[in-house]
Amino acid sequence: MAVDSSASDDASSRLDRLVDLATPFAVRTAVTLGVPDQIAAGVRHLDDLAKACEADRGALARLLRYLVHKGVFTETSPEVFALTDVGELLCDRSGGGRGAYLDLNSNGARTELAFIGLPHAIRTGEPSYATVHGRDLWADLDANPEMRAYFDELMLSQQRLTAPQVAALYPWNEVGHVTDVGGGSGGLLAELLLAHPHLRGTLVDRPEPVATAARRFAECGVADRAEGVPGDFFNPLPAGADVYVVSRALTDWSDKHARTILRRCAEAAGAQGRVLVVEVLPTEPYVAHLSSYDLVMLVSVGGRERGVDDHVALAADAGLALRRTYSGAAGLTLLEFIAG
Ligand SMILES: C[S@@+](CC[C@H](N)C(=O)[O-])C[C@H]1O[C@@H](n2cnc3c(N)ncnc32)[C@H](O)[C@@H]1O
Repeated sequence: MAVDSSASDDASSRLDRLVDLATPFAVRTAVTLGVPDQIAAGVRHLDDLAKACEADRGALARLLRYLVHKGVFTETSPEVFALTDVGELLCDRSGGGRGAYLDLNSNGARTELAFIGLPHAIRTGEPSYATVHGRDLWADLDANPEMRAYFDELMLSQQRLTAPQVAALYPWNEVGHVTDVGGGSGGLLAELLLAHPHLRGTLVDRPEPVATAARRFAECGVADRAEGVPGDFFNPLPAGADVYVVSRALTDWSDKHARTILRRCAEAAGAQGRVLVVEVLPTEPYVAHLSSYDLVMLVSVGGRERGVDDHVALAADAGLALRRTYSGAAGLTLLEFIAG
């Protein structure tokens, strides 16, 4: 194990690369201690870094030199460190940023640490987050406003790319009232109401994101047309909207749960209403095993990645038939269902 196998291509070296845990934890530890941020701020000598990061000087030197070897930092002169282009990515603490996600105290890292329970997830088909962290991810977010705020910010960073497309792709002129089911902190609904001044909107989610969404609606000047309803999408939803949007929420759930959410939308939509599923499908037909995301969904929330056909089959079980599809950039897909 003392031999560096990173350059070899024999089976043993390839296996070493597959199972390495030192590198992922070394990167995350550097982020958690704030090393990339300190270097970016000009603290570059080992003595100063150890002080600023409240680290043991000798142990920090070992961490830094390992990550120099892995291309995260460079040692520009003895005991003086700089960031590589990879290291620079670690300084991004914004909602969608890598630094924010990799910090071991963050919601992102807690999500990934659910992999410790992967054997449980594979044996049972259930998420392992609660077996590792003591409660499921949603309850964890409810109990931890800082993590909830981070999660909502992460979702919002993705909404910035997708919401304007959803607002432009779908014929919202045919709609008077839209309900966003599991709408999070309101990024999508605010965008829809801003882009289409005739629209009224309702957002259903857990209490904390509904409160955040209410602030967003006020800031955007659409509060008079938007209502937030704390609720549970496994229970009956407020009836009477023309369209029930479910944006990137079905992927958080098993088929059984996802069917129930769709059935609740179908019941609330009634004979005339529509259900609009919004998902980002990176490739179509989607091949789940080509990305680790499907397993991340399993361990963290018991969810799964699905392609168009999977969604159509689920919706059929909930009494819904596909009417139209709309494709946006980067895999964004809108599936419009009506009563089947
Ligand atoms: C992956 S986020 C997607 C948020 C938003 N729709 C978007 O596209 O960014 C899933 C949302 O489902 C919400 N959620 C989870 N369990 C829920 C429940 N039982 N009832 C209502 N909302 C729930 C979460 O709070 C979260 O905001």
